[in-house]
Amino acid sequence: MIKKNGTVYRLNTPNTTLVLQADTAQILYYGARLPAGDAFAAVAPLGRRFFSAPGTNDYTECSVIVEHADGSFASQFLFSRAKTYTEKPVLPDLPSSYGEGRSLELKYTDPVTRVSLYIQYTVFEDSDVIAVSSRVVNGSKKPVRLRRLMSLQCDLIGTEQEVVTFNGTWARERHKTSRQVGRGIFINDSKGGSSSHERNPFLLIKGKEVYGFNLVYSGNHKEVAECGESGRMRVLTGLNDYLFDWTLAPGESFYAPEAVMACAPDEDALSARMHAFVAEHIVRGKWKKRERPVLFNNWEGTYFDFNAEKIEEMARAAAALGAELFVLDDGWFGHRNDDTSSLGDWFDNVEKTGGGLAALAERVRAQGLSFGIWVEPEMISEDSELYRARPNFAMKIPGREPFRMRNQLMLNMADERVQNYVVRAVTDVLSRSGAAYVKWDYNRSMTDCFGKGIAGGEYFHRYMLGLYRVLFKLQKRFPAVLFEGCAGGGGRFDLGMLCFFPQIWTSDDTDARERIAIQEGTSYAYPQSAMGAHVSACPNHQTGNSNPMAARFNVACGGVLGYELDPCALTEGERAEIAEQIAFYKEHRRLLQFGQQYRLEGENAAGFITVARDGTAVAVVNALHYSPAEPPVTVRFKGLEPSAVYEVRLCGSERTCTATGALLMQADIPVPLPDAVQTMRENSGCLRSAMFLLKRVRA
Ligand code: DGJ
Repeated sequence: MIKKNGTVYRLNTPNTTLVLQADTAQILYYGARLPAGDAFAAVAPLGRRFFSAPGTNDYTECSVIVEHADGSFASQFLFSRAKTYTEKPVLPDLPSSYGEGRSLELKYTDPVTRVSLYIQYTVFEDSDVIAVSSRVVNGSKKPVRLRRLMSLQCDLIGTEQEVVTFNGTWARERHKTSRQVGRGIFINDSKGGSSSHERNPFLLIKGKEVYGFNLVYSGNHKEVAECGESGRMRVLTGLNDYLFDWTLAPGESFYAPEAVMACAPDEDALSARMHAFVAEHIVRGKWKKRERPVLFNNWEGTYFDFNAEKIEEMARAAAALGAELFVLDDGWFGHRNDDTSSLGDWFDNVEKTGGGLAALAERVRAQGLSFGIWVEPEMISEDSELYRARPNFAMKIPGREPFRMRNQLMLNMADERVQNYVVRAVTDVLSRSGAAYVKWDYNRSMTDCFGKGIAGGEYFHRYMLGLYRVLFKLQKRFPAVLFEGCAGGGGRFDLGMLCFFPQIWTSDDTDARERIAIQEGTSYAYPQSAMGAHVSACPNHQTGNSNPMAARFNVACGGVLGYELDPCALTEGERAEIAEQIAFYKEHRRLLQFGQQYRLEGENAAGFITVARDGTAVAVVNALHYSPAEPPVTVRFKGLEPSAVYEVRLCGSERTCTATGALLMQADIPVPLPDAVQTMRENSGCLRSAMFLLKRVRA
């Protein structure tokens, strides 16, 4: 709901209120919902009249920098008008949130150059989230250069805020990292062309309340938290201005990617709001709310070393265990037997696929499974027919030796001819294989950013616009196909990708012990239905650790379940255990994939509880370490109704108890875990895990 009082706009969601002073471009209040009736004069800041930009006396990091034709940088964006919309205006060429949401657009114009800045807020009441986007229109008679345009600027009261980001690297993504900024400036960003393994665009600010900010974008991003002498913390989120320089001819516009923000009393409530928003307003299409299939992927089972017989045998074994989808990973095309060749040659390796992809897909489907396929369409190997025919399709700087990662170069997706080639290539793979699922991989970052005729300062963003153009086309052409994003694991886990790919491979690290922190970090901003989570073989290929099969499954139940191993190599006991796991998962799949998930934490304990509307819940508690005579592992459940009564069953046993939601959430409940010494003896380390099934027996 949007209410106006003079130039003060009040944006209400059921639980939050954002108050904007349109003429001074100030956020007067953002926090828990306020009762009606306030005029907000009490909180109006003194002094500043302009939107923050160079040329004003606001020296805090600003959200827009325009270089005018005469070389000057000063802009005074004065309030010009406000407009409300009942429907959310479309953001051209970029992925963005959708659905019912009233919008407010504020316009500011520089009186000297007539360059205008538009800021648009959309209120998503069902999830307590506000989406913000901005655009600059060059109303002057000369070209201008846009040197920065952030999507969102939010000045929060109070400097005693903790800044939380989700950092990592390959196989160690999105580990929660907190720090106090004090009076100073903190920047979280990515510069390698993608949202990155290292620094996810999601940012939490924790003070008296918890604020969450995210960006609907998959390229270079930047988040700034700065505490100035004003006693406020300014938060900026948006496109990274690193090497950014965009020329706007007279009359042209530039749209910044959409940002989103939410505010809540604690981290759990904030995550619940972000999850609801992603599930309802970001993920779209047939798979939005549809249960996701249990898949088997051959990557860790075979790597590049397979043939059609092996794949058919694996598919048969997977089907016998209850799998629904078989995914043929890297190595089926060109002459690819390792990572040195064939990217770009999306034609069948007839020998390895036993006569072609169509035939192999049929052999998989004959086992009663759907067929899924791996592609990495944005890349090119120098040893490929594509490279030999079209070396100019590769991203390279003339006269320089290109920087190689995983032996590969990238395609220049900023070029429309390359985009069209990628659309044709992927269309062809999908059409001839009849694939129901695509794993879209991306295994390196950008280095040699160059395309003939593309200004260097525009390159990163033009690449993203090119990629999005391709994805918009494919999404339209293949509405029934389930796409899973991947970037060497979770290097592009962001809201931009989730607009096209309902799920994303969370990390290449499939060790359950490592996955706990990775999935937990990811869960702050993204729902479990977005997280691909697989059970893999032991010893684990990334770490050498061995963990109990039950623990590997329990951890994978925190996301969309899959198996990444050779099912033909399993013992009879393991086969029986996996068949039971898959049957359990299918029985509770709607709850596990679409229920409300909360993180569970404690001394030496980490896990989650996923709660369905009907009061059924599955909880997983993991203990990571063991030392003799350690205190017992306990848990406090979350998300239950305090006054309802629940029956709690320890899965894999007959052990049950009954308790009120209040007791289960307020008392330290001892967790019966497998014997530590035996776990240690049979595995490496001591990951012990318990799963509980909770049923509401009295409301
Ligand atoms: C990286 C992915 O994250 C893996 O799962 C696998 O698909 C490989 N690429 C294949 O090259």
